[in-house]
Amino acid sequence: MAGRLTFLLRLLSVFLAALAVAKAAQEPLVQPGYKVGQSIPVTCLNRTTDTGEHVTDASGQLSYIPFPICNETGRPLELLFGVEKDINCTLDFIDDPFFHLLEFYVHNDAPLTCRIPTKPLPPSALKDEFEKGTQDDTDGQGSISEVYTPMVVALAGTLQLSHLHIASTLNVLVHAAPKSVAPGTIAAATAYSIAREEPARVVIGDSLPLQFSVRWYPNTSLPSGWTGVGGHLTFSTVVYCLISAGASAAICLAYFRGIELPRRLKSHGKDRLGGVERGALGGYGIANGGYSGYGYGPGKRD
Ligand SMILES: *[C@@H]1O[C@H](CO)[C@@H](O)[C@H](O)[C@H]1NC(C)=O
Ligand SMILES: *[C@@H]1O[C@H](CO)[C@@H](O)[C@H](O)[C@H]1NC(C)=O
Ligand SMILES: *[C@@H]1O[C@H](CO)[C@@H](O)[C@H](O)[C@H]1NC(C)=O
Ligand SMILES: *[C@@H]1O[C@H](CO)[C@@H](O)[C@H](O)[C@H]1NC(C)=O
Repeated sequence: MAGRLTFLLRLLSVFLAALAVAKAAQEPLVQPGYKVGQSIPVTCLNRTTDTGEHVTDASGQLSYIPFPICNETGRPLELLFGVEKDINCTLDFIDDPFFHLLEFYVHNDAPLTCRIPTKPLPPSALKDEFEKGTQDDTDGQGSISEVYTPMVVALAGTLQLSHLHIASTLNVLVHAAPKSVAPGTIAAATAYSIAREEPARVVIGDSLPLQFSVRWYPNTSLPSGWTGVGGHLTFSTVVYCLISAGASAAICLAYFRGIELPRRLKSHGKDRLGGVERGALGGYGIANGGYSGYGYGPGKRD
């Protein structure tokens, strides 16, 4: 009986020890990376609407505020780690101050400077990030920070007298650091308007339908996006060559049968009428007078 009790106690202590180890593992010393699908808030530099200059707080630090709220989600724009998708983000109402900022952006007076946390922020900071934004953590010295990765949104458009044209279809490229080096960590990001797409026409009070196409890269090198044109020999190139070779052979054959051969036969017939028997057709392997039986349409017998 006593032996069994000791055994149970020992079992219990082993269990508690294992629990303690597991708990310690849950509180790692290094900040964990993003998990696939984890949401990433986008904040952008606040700017004054009269000059487009960046806004700093009392201590001179740059002030980042949440990206405007998307009507689709009711939240500021957010990316999902490692998830490639198209995000529609309609800004419901372009008020007067924001319209002026848009003018600065498309006129290149000031860039739409945004940033995303390089690794997940602690829960309290994350809440701020979505709701009121954060101050610069680099003491206003520049845009390189350990905590954030810059993501400048190159918004293109044109200023008109009464309104703005904004290229509202944008690509977003995000590079993660290689998993072996720093899992779940963002290494670089950028976003840019596709100026060739039909722009959105915006006046004060309108909505602005932004469409983001988000693509992720597992390391910092860009894959080649132009295979098949100059350089790599791809399967489709080979198929293309074969098809065009076949097509030109078919055209040559059709030309010869439909135009060249009847012409030669015709001139041969004339020669024969003129009493000159040259036997030139013998070279074509066609018996005299038998050519109409070959079925080449345009050829006519004379
Ligand atoms: C941006 O800065 C202006 C001051 O120029 C301030 O009035 C405004 O509240 C700031 N925006 C946000 C969202 O904090
Ligand atoms: C985004 O909006 C466009 C145009 O309104 C629509 O065609 C497209 O299906 C939408 N995409 C998503 C992912 O909602
Ligand atoms: C934005 O959402 C509100 C409420 O859901 C809706 O009334 C409004 O029409 C939407 N605006 C646009 C531009 O879709
Ligand atoms: C980067 O990732 C791509 C896959 O998109 C892979 O093909 C390439 O080998 C990787 N480059 C390096 C340097 O690891």
